Amino acid sequence: MPSVIDEILARADIVEVISSYYPLKKAGKNYRTNCPFHLEKKPSFTVSPEKQIFHCFGCGAGGNVINFIMLQEKVERREAIKILAERLGIKIGREDARILSLYKLLGEACQIFHNFLLSPIGKRAHDYLKERGITPETLKKFSLGYVPSGKAWFNELRKKAGSDANLIKTGLALEREGRIFPYFWDRVMFPIFNLSGKVVGFGGRMLREGEPKYLNSPETSVFEKGKILYGLNISRGEIAKKKTAILVEGYMDLLALYQAGIENVCASLGTSFTPHQASLLRRFAERVVILYDPDEAGQDASLRALESLWNEGIKVEVVILPSGDDPDSFLKHSGKEKLLQLLESAQDGFEFYFHRLKEKEQGNTRKIMERCFYFWQDLKDVWMRDTLIQRGAELLNIDVSVLKDAWKSFRKKKWSTVTESLTLPAKPEEQYLLSLCLNFPSVRDRIFTALSLEEIEDPTISRIFALLKEKKDDPFSLSTFLENLEDKERKYISALLLRGIPHSDPEKECDDCLRKIKEQRTRKKIRELQEKIRRVEKGSEEEKNLLKTLQELMRRDTA
Ligand code: UTP
Ligand code: MN
Repeated sequence: MPSVIDEILARADIVEVISSYYPLKKAGKNYRTNCPFHLEKKPSFTVSPEKQIFHCFGCGAGGNVINFIMLQEKVERREAIKILAERLGIKIGREDARILSLYKLLGEACQIFHNFLLSPIGKRAHDYLKERGITPETLKKFSLGYVPSGKAWFNELRKKAGSDANLIKTGLALEREGRIFPYFWDRVMFPIFNLSGKVVGFGGRMLREGEPKYLNSPETSVFEKGKILYGLNISRGEIAKKKTAILVEGYMDLLALYQAGIENVCASLGTSFTPHQASLLRRFAERVVILYDPDEAGQDASLRALESLWNEGIKVEVVILPSGDDPDSFLKHSGKEKLLQLLESAQDGFEFYFHRLKEKEQGNTRKIMERCFYFWQDLKDVWMRDTLIQRGAELLNIDVSVLKDAWKSFRKKKWSTVTESLTLPAKPEEQYLLSLCLNFPSVRDRIFTALSLEEIEDPTISRIFALLKEKKDDPFSLSTFLENLEDKERKYISALLLRGIPHSDPEKECDDCLRKIKEQRTRKKIRELQEKIRRVEKGSEEEKNLLKTLQELMRRDTA
């Protein structure tokens, strides 16, 4: 039964899709345009109708039509699939039903936990939250809950789930040695909602001191930590209205602020703030005030969050609370007005950034610049980069022209290594074999019988080979194959295929390549042996044996 993804990949034409956004010019077999994902003067964005993939030789973006929509529309995979399905008039059936049943179960669990919190079983948790100043309205608004240690609720949920496999998919149960257990017990539960208001996961806090203090649901098909912001489902309106979001680290921080009437707030779930979360926030906010814990970890996290937010063109400010505080505790002892004052007088993001870098690198300008350069080379927004150069020069006390020159020379060196690593692996033969494999599925068996995966030196190629080996689908579909790859591997393949190694006689080329690789291996062994022989005692039995092996190898090499 073909899945929605298969159907999309079979029916969508990447040229048609991309040219509905950008004008494509024919260039040989392929099409070209200026890359929409980075600024360039000469078009290096290439689209192949034959292979149904795209690749930009400037910024390295690449993949199939789904990857294009993800980049173009700044959406997650599932959303991109939806957009394409709609465009092509494909009904999302089975897959959607499965996801819907997950949402349903998670929603039911949330309700069960919430009821526990309000019942005698949840008294301890209820008292705890009350003591921390959480009002009954907040309990309700955020659907807080309590999960007891007993198993009654769990068995109820098991029944609702229909099968244990379904329950495990929600992240609420786990399997150990054939038995199934609840993932959470005896914890205050903070349900995590997606933007459509569906429960996708939970954060559970221990009631007593202990480790881990917070336990988050494992990643599931509906819960990807790095792609969600806690509270955003409730605060998005207020954030959009004020065009400003306050970003905190913790669940309790968010609740405290919201409850105090500072409602344009969201939390990053303790994980470091991701580029995904930045692009999510950009849909609602033009400005973000980072209000993390003032400790070292919090300040470093702020640094990384700043970079991701800047990358989305968002204006950023930073508040550093008095040491030892977090937003929740600060509110408690100093009150809302004081916190609002701090938010008003937040530090300019650039000042915080360069100041923190100076502190971290102990004033070593070279190292500071290097960190900046690595960040700048991936920066999408050129205006932001220009501002960073200006403000960086000013705040680091470097002449602007010196900083610009340094950046230019870094970029030249860097760019050559970037493109090199993208297109030239350690061994051209391995690259050649991969190209053959992808273009002519029929040579695959030949390669896999002759060469074991351990013999492939380039780790990316070796991983791709491993996946190809598992794949037995017939006929082979490149764009479907790309679906299951990591970013790095996908970009590698799109670069390799669109650079286009010409093939004329795949079988012969394949055998030539294999022979070359074997020869290289033999020669390497010979070198190793010679080295060994140099080190063993002359005239010894060991030397004799080694010499014998060496002779054999040499004979094979010249044969
Ligand atoms: P904090 O410890 O600052 O959270 O961690 P908090 O909300 O202020 O906690 P309490 O209840 O007042 O003590 C910040 C965030 O980091 C994540 C959680 O998302 C938490 O809200 N975290 C923290 C974990 O995921 N696991 C942990 O063990 C600790
Ligand atoms: Mn706290």
